[in-house]
Amino acid sequence: MTTGPDTIRIDGEEIPFTPGQTIMDAALAAGIYIPHLCHYPGLPPSGNCRLCVVEIGNRSAAACITAAAAGQEIRNNTPELNEARKAITQMLFVEGNHICPSCEKTGNCKLQAMAYHLGMLDDHFAQFYQRREIDASHPDILLDRSRCILCDLCVRASRDVDQKNVFAIAGRGTNAHLIVNTPSGKLADSTMAVTDLAATICPVGAILIKGKGYEVPIGQRIYDRQTIRETGLQEHVERKNDD
Ligand code: SF4
Ligand code: FES
Repeated sequence: MTTGPDTIRIDGEEIPFTPGQTIMDAALAAGIYIPHLCHYPGLPPSGNCRLCVVEIGNRSAAACITAAAAGQEIRNNTPELNEARKAITQMLFVEGNHICPSCEKTGNCKLQAMAYHLGMLDDHFAQFYQRREIDASHPDILLDRSRCILCDLCVRASRDVDQKNVFAIAGRGTNAHLIVNTPSGKLADSTMAVTDLAATICPVGAILIKGKGYEVPIGQRIYDRQTIRETGLQEHVERKNDD
């Protein structure tokens, strides 16, 4: 099967793309969900969570950082890829402290919603029980690094949208960790505000607005009402309408 100019095929469905678009952007625009945690429409991609890895012919690639190119035959929603995504999600759960019933982000957490989406029933791997630094210095914002999945979204949101450059990721591999770009390393000494995109973009409960925990009743939280597939497609449309 061949595809037309400026079209790709995902799981057998032919969809258009515009030059410069990534596979992720073309897929979401066409209503095809590719699982993702570190992609956010409108922000430059970082390609670090690996949830969006798809197969193109006989190679694998992260859809959020791979340009769409005419004729690509892409496999996305396959049992093998979804099993690999589930294993990544399980690793994220054990690498940090993601204790859903006691987390203020429960019901609004993308990691938790991804676990539901992929049919994850247990952690599978042994817990690390991280004890990373909590920064409660800011009057309005809490940073709990033990829940951070290093998705880099707050880094990009603060740098590229808020124009404040509050966060950075330091170290590599298992030593990688989120830092605050102030001489003290404390959020209180930054210009971060609750109205910043970086204050609300965290997909998990690592950055929280103080005094807001459990504000939305069970049944009305984001992922009580919609699946992560639906919110992922909706976020793309909303950001496009904002442009
Ligand atoms: S604090 Fe949240 S948004 Fe920032 S890198 Fe960690 S998980 Fe991602
Ligand atoms: S969404 Fe592509 S690597 Fe995270």
